[in-house]
This record gives sequence, structure tokens and C-alpha cells, in this order.
Amino acid sequence: MYYPEELIEEIRQKNDIVDVISGYVGLQKKGGNYVCCCPFHSEKTPSFSVNRNRQIYKCFGCGEGGNVVTFVMKYENCTFPEAIKQLADKAGVALPEVEYSEDAKRRETRRQRLLEVNKEAAKFYFYQLRTPHGAKAKEYLDKRQLSDEVRKNFGLGYAPVRGEELLAYLRQKGFSDDLIRDVGLAKMSERGTTTQFWNRVMFPIQDINHRVIGFGGRIMGDADSGPKYLNSPETEIFDKSRNLYGMNYARSARTGNIILCEGYMDVISMHQAGFTQAVASLGTAFTPGQAGLIKKYTRDVLLAYDSDGAGVKAALRAIRILRDAGMSGKIIDMSPYKDPDEFMKNMGKEAFQDRINHAENSFMFEIRILERDFDMNDPEEKTNFHNAIAKKLCEFSEDVERENYIEAVAEKYHIGFDNLRKLVVNTAAKAGGYAVVPERPKSGIQKKNTPEENVKKAQRLLLTWLTDYPQLYHKIKSYITPADFTIELYSKVAERMFSDIVNNSLNPAGIINMFADEKEQSEAASLFTTKLPELESEQEKEKAFHDILLSVKRNSFNYYSERLGVDLSAMSQVIEGKKALEELSKMHISLN
Ligand code: GTP
Ligand code: MN
Repeated sequence: MYYPEELIEEIRQKNDIVDVISGYVGLQKKGGNYVCCCPFHSEKTPSFSVNRNRQIYKCFGCGEGGNVVTFVMKYENCTFPEAIKQLADKAGVALPEVEYSEDAKRRETRRQRLLEVNKEAAKFYFYQLRTPHGAKAKEYLDKRQLSDEVRKNFGLGYAPVRGEELLAYLRQKGFSDDLIRDVGLAKMSERGTTTQFWNRVMFPIQDINHRVIGFGGRIMGDADSGPKYLNSPETEIFDKSRNLYGMNYARSARTGNIILCEGYMDVISMHQAGFTQAVASLGTAFTPGQAGLIKKYTRDVLLAYDSDGAGVKAALRAIRILRDAGMSGKIIDMSPYKDPDEFMKNMGKEAFQDRINHAENSFMFEIRILERDFDMNDPEEKTNFHNAIAKKLCEFSEDVERENYIEAVAEKYHIGFDNLRKLVVNTAAKAGGYAVVPERPKSGIQKKNTPEENVKKAQRLLLTWLTDYPQLYHKIKSYITPADFTIELYSKVAERMFSDIVNNSLNPAGIINMFADEKEQSEAASLFTTKLPELESEQEKEKAFHDILLSVKRNSFNYYSERLGVDLSAMSQVIEGKKALEELSKMHISLN
């Protein structure tokens, strides 16, 4: 859906960013800003800041930033048009009637058609399980002690031995062979169209709106030939990386957490025991897209993975994906059983709830698994283990959090707290990690950065300065042009910003709307919110601003000097730049 820019701007202006964000998280007023702990990564001290004047937000921890529209997109995990729709509704702005393009209409109709095929197939399988043909499958499910209720809720079925029956049924419902193949229920072979699933117990896979998007089929018994599970291939309506088995029920479980399992059977068995917050990935490893889906509902994920080697490996991977998504993962101990299904059958739900309550912190889990690689009886290996711990502890960017973990690890592994702490500090010093606070020169440009980083940083800082002190632009405008910003996106922003200042209509949140891409929006937001060094005196501030201006200009001069002979406009940039640099270096610029 395409909306005109003025409409988007109207919607944005009618939704004050502080009001909107307050509806999601608790903001606290601090100076001219509102702050809280960042909803997009995990932290204990607030580095998320919302600025009412500029109508933008920024996290100084993870770098996430944008305007009210980006916030809603990011928080609700929705698309730009969806966010606009939501904000328009909130502000009572009428959106033009949806006018789908012919192409979009065709796509939508096709999606509906594909979903219908699946729905009919699911009905067919469901029915087959309840006929004499399905007796063996029924027996199998009985053996696995599944109640009638979960069989019905999960729409379990049976794909008969003779595949033609499904084809005949679907054809009679008016679906073409092409459609049946495109949805992954059949393949083309020498014998014509043949079905994907036969003689298997069928698990329809539903999206969060209970629509059947694919199937998993399990052989009955373990000795049969062929893979244990066969899944539908990915299709136009089946994206394995963005859906989770059981999520259609788990989303309304209201338990405040999600239990992530490995298998379909685990999920069903958990739901039967009342743990309706259980979900599983779709025969593939857990993905960031699935983390994003969960994050719409909760940030707390409990991992109920198999206790074998493969399960542990998969859990370690999932932990990292969750952490990257700013979510916290805990590990449920399933021993002495292999998986949640077995655990439930043998120990029951009270015991499982107890395991939930005692779930292990993901960091402590990682360390415990790490320990297995070292022989603690060998002094050298033990040292290596301690070094490995220290390295992992360096990954915490927050002092309090890191100290707490140092304490917990020191206690558990009987390492002296001070010794471990020293080891962490030394490790960080070697690796340039967080644990050591680097010295920061007053302009805000850091010595430890690469030259490229410093160039970017200087250009960002200059734009932030000008956002804070727009009147400064009038003093420097004969020396600085958008072309001096050698990063393309920065240059675009500078161009718009300079003309806004001249027209007395500087509007950072509006500038962010210039970019459609989420990453670009976030990057544009960072241009107005780079943290300016905290400087006390007017003199210090003027000096810092002067340094940054010179640094941007000098870089621009070097940049175009290198392009002489390649880039036609370089010559004038260089000549003008040299003159500007000479004048600027002698000039005093007061902030007022
Ligand atoms: P049961 O063995 O019946 O208890 O099922 P489960 O769901 O516990 O399966 P398991 O723990 O062995 O495997 C976890 C998940 O991996 C399954 O639910 C499937 O999604 C997937 N999976 C298992 N075996 C296969 C296979 O042979 N092929 C494919 N594509 N996926 C499989
Ligand atoms: Mn199992």
C-alpha cells in the first residue's frame, strides 16, 4: 500500500513519540529526555532515550533508533504500512481505501487458493484417521497416549497408503494438479503426479491465525524405511524460518513465557499437560525470524531441548540467537529423560513445573557445557578453562551485570573472585573488550577507532551538533556543503537538513521518513542523536565543535584529493576545501 508522504507526516505528527512509547514501556523523565531500559536488547541500566522536541528515540547501547513509526514497526515486528495503519487509527486519521494493484490482488487470491488446498487436505487426512484405513495410525497415537482433545486441537490425521485418494479428493474439490504440487502436497514423477505423503501420521502446521501452511508426516514405529519425519517443502505460503509449531495456541497462553521444544510431539505432549505456551521449530534449526515472532508476545524463553549432544548444541545456538534479539533464554533440565515428551510421561506436570522454576540461566549453562571440553585434573587445562570463562565474561557490556556474573561463576567453579576479576580485566585489555573503559578525547572522537570509523563519527557528530545548535549552520555554511559528508546517506541527510535550517523548519523525525529501509532509518536517526561529549564550559564546547568541523573538512579534502582525475567535481572541491581549511583553522566560532 502506498501512502503519500504528506499523509505519513500528518500521522507521525499526530502521534507524539513520548505518548506512544509510554504505551509500551515505562519512560522516566531525565533532563530534557525520557529514558528507560532498551526494549530491543537486554540491559539493566537505561540507555534508551526518547526526545520529545526532535520526536525521535535512540538507544546508546545497541544503536537502535528512529521515529515513532520505526518504533512501532520494530516493537510490534510489523511492516511499514501496518505501523502507519495502527498509528492512523490511534490518531483518528482516515486512510484512503485500500486499492490493491492488479499484481497484489492476484498474489493474494493465489495465497488464498493455496491455503484452501491445504485446508482441504488437512480435512481429508483428519477424516482418514477416523476410518478403518487409519486404524494403525490411531493405534500409534493411542500408544503415545494422546488425548482426543489434543488430536482434535492439532488436527492430527493420517495419509493413507494409496496416495491417489488424496489427489482424487482434491481434484474433485476443483483444485488443479499444478496447485496441488505448488503447495507441496504432490510431485511430478514418471508416473505423473504423485503425493508427497503416504502411510504417515499427519501433523498440519498452522500459522498464528490457525491457517494450515504446511504438513509434517511421521512414520509409525521406528523400523520403517525412510526418514522419521517428512515435512512439506517451503512454498509461497510456508516459510519455515518465520513460523513455529504450536504458536497459534501459545500466543494466547498468557503464561508470560514461551517454552521452545525441538519436536512436534514434544509440543503436543506439553499442551496436553497444560503447558500451552510450548512451541517448536519446523524440522529446521531455530532462526532469528522465529525469535522475532516470539518477541511479539514475550521476551522470556525456556528451552526444553533434548538432553543429548545434538540437543545441547542446538540449545547453544538458540541461546545466541535469542540473546542477539535482546531476549533471555533459560534451560530446562530434562534429565534423566531425553525430551519433554518422555519427561512428561514419566514424571508428570508438577515435576515439570518444578523444572521450569529451576531453569538454568543461559550463561551459566554455556559455562557448564564449556567445562566439558577441559580436563579439570590437569592444571594447564584448568587454566585454559579459566581463560575461556574470562573471555566469555568480557562479552557483557554492562559493569553491574558482568560483576554479578563474575561473582556467580567464581563461586560455582571455586575461583577466587578477585583472581577471576583480574583475569577478566586483563583479557579485556588484550582484546579491547568492554571491561576496560578507554580514554576518550574530549571531542568525542575516539583514538581506538579505525580511521574510517572516526570519519563516520565526525560526520555524525557534526550533524548532531547542528541539530542542537541550528544557528551554527549560518556561521559555517560558506565552508561546509553536503558533499563534505562522504558517506552517501549522511550527505542526503545533510542536504535536507541544511535546507530545513534555512527555511527555519528543522524536523529530524521527518528526515528519517526520507528513507524506506529500516536500517537506513536507524542510521539516519543516529545522525541526530550521536552522544555529544559532556562538556561543562562554553569554551570547551566551542573547541570540540571546531575540532569536529575541521576533521570533517579535512577528511573531505583528502577524499576528493584522491579522486582528482577520476571524479570531475573533485577539482573544485579540493580547491575550495584547501581555502576553507585555512580559514577555518584560524577562525573562532562562538556557539551563540
Ligand atoms: P517423536 O520421535 O515421535 O517423539 O517426535 P519428536 O517430535 O520428538 O522428534 P525428534 O525429537 O526426533 O525430532 C525433533 C524434530 O525434528 C521433529 O519434530 C521434526 O520436526 C524434525 N525431524 C526429526 N526427524 C526428522 C527427519 O527425519 N527429517 C526431517 N526433515 N525432520 C525431522
Ligand atoms: Mn520425541
